[in-house]
Order: sequence, then C-alpha cells, then structure tokens
Amino acid sequence: MSNRVRKAVIPAAGLGTRVLPASKAMPKEMLPIVDKPAIQYIVEEAVAAGITDILIITNRGKGIIEDHFDHSIELEQRLAASGRTETLDELNRITNLANITFIRQKETKGLGHAVNCARSFVGDEPFAVLYGDDVIIGEDPACGQLCRAYEEYGKGVVGMKEVTAEQIQKYSSLAVAPLRDNIYAVSDMIEKPKPNEILSLYSILGRCVLPPEIFDILDKTPPGAGGEIQLTDAMVTLARTTGMTGVDFTGVRYDMGNKLGILQATCEVALKHPEVGTDFAAYLKELVKTL
Ligand code: UTP
Repeated sequence: MSNRVRKAVIPAAGLGTRVLPASKAMPKEMLPIVDKPAIQYIVEEAVAAGITDILIITNRGKGIIEDHFDHSIELEQRLAASGRTETLDELNRITNLANITFIRQKETKGLGHAVNCARSFVGDEPFAVLYGDDVIIGEDPACGQLCRAYEEYGKGVVGMKEVTAEQIQKYSSLAVAPLRDNIYAVSDMIEKPKPNEILSLYSILGRCVLPPEIFDILDKTPPGAGGEIQLTDAMVTLARTTGMTGVDFTGVRYDMGNKLGILQATCEVALKHPEVGTDFAAYLKELVKTL
C-alpha cells in the first residue's frame, strides 16, 4: 500500500459552545477571518498540501458550509452581467478547489466519533485530519509537513506544539523523543491530563495523519474525557503499539473555537491583507495610543 496521502477529513460538527452566541445559527467554522470563512483557509491548506479528496463532517444546521463550496447561480449571473470578472473568478475558484463531499455526524459524540464517520470515504488509505476550527497559516502548509512525515516514516503523525502547563490540562499531552529537526517519535499520549499525568508540554494541535487501522480502534474506543469519544484515546493505541511521529510544525495556529483566537486571527491576517492591510495598520497604530 502506498504511503501517499490523497484524502483529508475535516470534522466540523462540534457545537461550538465556547463561541456562543456567534455560533448559535452560524457554524463556528464559517466565522470569517477578514473576508474568508475559517474553513476555506483549512480547505486551501489541504489542497496546497496535494490533497485531492476532502470529506467535511457536518451536522444539522451546518448546511451553509456546503453552500459555500457550491455554485451560487444567481450571484454568479449577476457578477457576470456586471462585468465583475475578478470576483466571479474567485467564487468559481472556491467551487473548484477540490473534490469535496459531505457527511453528517448524526449525534455530537466527540471528535473520535466524527472521524469514525469517515470510514467508507477513506477506505484502505492513510488520510489527513484537519480540525475544522484550527486555522494554521504559514509558507509551508502544516498538513503537507505531516503528510511528508507519514510518507517518510510510514506511521501515524500528529501535529504538535509546546503549550503552557495550564493549557496542557485542557489539551492532550505527548510522550516524545527527538528524531531530527522538528520531528519526534511519539510513544504515548493522554487527553486532558491531570497535573500528575502530564507526559510533556507538547500537545496535539489541529492536524494529524492516520492509517486506516484507526477505524477498528475507534470502534472499540469508549467515551472518555467529557463523555465524548476522543480521537486521542484511539491514537494512544497506535502510539503504544506501532509508535507515531510528531511534527512540531511551522506556521501560526489560530484557535477559532475561542473568542481570543478569533480576534488574533482577524487582526494578524488583516495586517497582511493586500486590500485592507495598510489602512488597518494605520487604524491600529492610532487605536493603541488610546489604550
Ligand atoms: P472542539 O473540541 O472544539 O468541540 O472540537 P466543539 O464542540 O466544537 O466546541 P466547544 O468545546 O463546545 O466550544 C474540535 C473539532 O472537532 C469537531 C469540531 O467541529 C471542531 O472542528 N467536532 C467535535 C466534531 O466534528 N464532532 C464532535 O462531536 C465534536
């Protein structure tokens, strides 16, 4: 079986309770960073990493994610008639980004349960998972960095970053040993560790690449932290048996699942934006004088 990663799964079926009320009727994955919804950045990252087939996991009330990646005939006709070809080209580009399909997670039973909904899409191939609320911006797409590590080592890969001792208790903690540069061997992990269970301050953040064997493991994974089926609990089995690889990826990660993360993403992306960047910087400089 080839180690080449062609498929990606984007779980976007969470309830997003930390960004209520914004996420009540609007999926948090559709919240804009300047002029694009968060999930578009994630799809573009996957495409830039060479992924050709993407499955987005949604649920009730998230139909507008599907609309965003589909044609909008009336809008396109209006733009064509008024000669706004640049905007029209951009809309067509979004529709043709990749071969995108959708499936619904019928009950919100956790990230592990959401990924398990992708079994028939994935088949017998390795696949990337890009968490729908984690936007990573960088020169070298984070997803591609992980896919290369999968192709090289042939083991499941987690994207990882160092976090604070306080944050690690809300995330996952990894047992790691350096291999080379920013690449590590991962032999164990734990979701939401108590202080005496912390393995290191390295946490899984936002991306992983998994072998298809994960599905049989997920079938047997009971609910864990928060009563949800945790993807980390299934990956523990991989880490302890075959071992996994960790990539301390380059790029800046924005957590669109919390309010501060959304503000940071908006601010930093706006400063680099070709259309509004200069004006926004001037505005910010004035604003900070008043703080
Ligand atoms: P989170 O841990 O941020 O959960 O999910 P959440 O429910 O969306 O957010 P809060 O904690 O209520 O604010 C991480 C990723 O996994 C997806 C989410 O959409 C998000 O992209 N997810 C989570 C699912 O697809 N299904 C689930 O059952 C849970």
